[in-house]
Amino acid sequence: MSGRSFLRWLRISRRSRPSRTSQAVALARSGMPRPTSPEGDPGAQESLCRGMRPTSASWFRPQIRARTRFFDDQVMGAISAGTSQVVVCGAGYDDRGLRFRTTGVRFFELDHPATQVDKARRLRAIEPAGTGLALAPTDFRVDDVASALIGCGHDAGRPSLFICEGLLVYLDQPTCSRLLGGLRSRAAPGSTLAVSLAVHRAGASSDAVTAAANARRPSGRSEPWRTVLPLDAHLALLEQAGWRVERTVDAAELDDGAVPGRTQLVSAVSGPGGSGSSALHWGQRGL
Ligand SMILES: C[S@@+](CC[C@H](N)C(=O)[O-])C[C@H]1O[C@@H](n2cnc3c(N)ncnc32)[C@H](O)[C@@H]1O
Repeated sequence: MSGRSFLRWLRISRRSRPSRTSQAVALARSGMPRPTSPEGDPGAQESLCRGMRPTSASWFRPQIRARTRFFDDQVMGAISAGTSQVVVCGAGYDDRGLRFRTTGVRFFELDHPATQVDKARRLRAIEPAGTGLALAPTDFRVDDVASALIGCGHDAGRPSLFICEGLLVYLDQPTCSRLLGGLRSRAAPGSTLAVSLAVHRAGASSDAVTAAANARRPSGRSEPWRTVLPLDAHLALLEQAGWRVERTVDAAELDDGAVPGRTQLVSAVSGPGGSGSSALHWGQRGL
């Protein structure tokens, strides 16, 4: 095998393994004190992580605590407001479909096929009779998210909460735009999008920031970051896809240990594209 063929084989075989970064996030999340719904499983994250190889990464725990708090709030808020569909994109080992299980609410999970096969196996081990989650293997680089959602029974006539946690940073910009637009096409009035964004200060080179981050990260080669942008550029992508940004919060405001200026947590509503300047900072609305 030539050097080039070997590298190609290595890339493909790495990609056909479950995402290690999603395991690291799930392991960081397990054991965190978190809310649950009355019908939900408070031990779901620990059960999903059973047997995973431990990770030594502790630097990102505060960031994950902030993200977890934000997205748990989004799910609980949507369910209590009557939203009956929660779509989790790049779900990895996210446990919210079990933790926040609620009669009348459907959870849809989309992720790369290699990770979904392993997630499905783990779900069967937890609940052999079936969890009721709708899993749709999807590679956002090549698959159409709207078709994937139609295929797993998502109803575009009813409002949804769409979640992209820790996902967009792994996709290139055209893929981010296609995904955001595809979700918007399935968003009935009253729908919300909640996303985490990897950001850097205005003026720095996005390519240089991304390359430096990948050089530092243990999974920088197997699961490289691809989209790290100044906040304004990220918000413009959301607005161009038809999402009106309502709130942004720096992860550091939700957890003292999180590094400021790295992760923004954003919620947006379906509606005609507006200008980023209409966005409210989290503190103006309260959590
Ligand atoms: C850091 S993990 C986050 C997982 C989960 N959202 C969480 O916070 O626990 C990133 C996830 O994005 C998924 N992902 C990355 N690229 C993808 C692609 N092209 N298509 C589908 N999923 C992808 C990975 O498989 C992985 O599960």
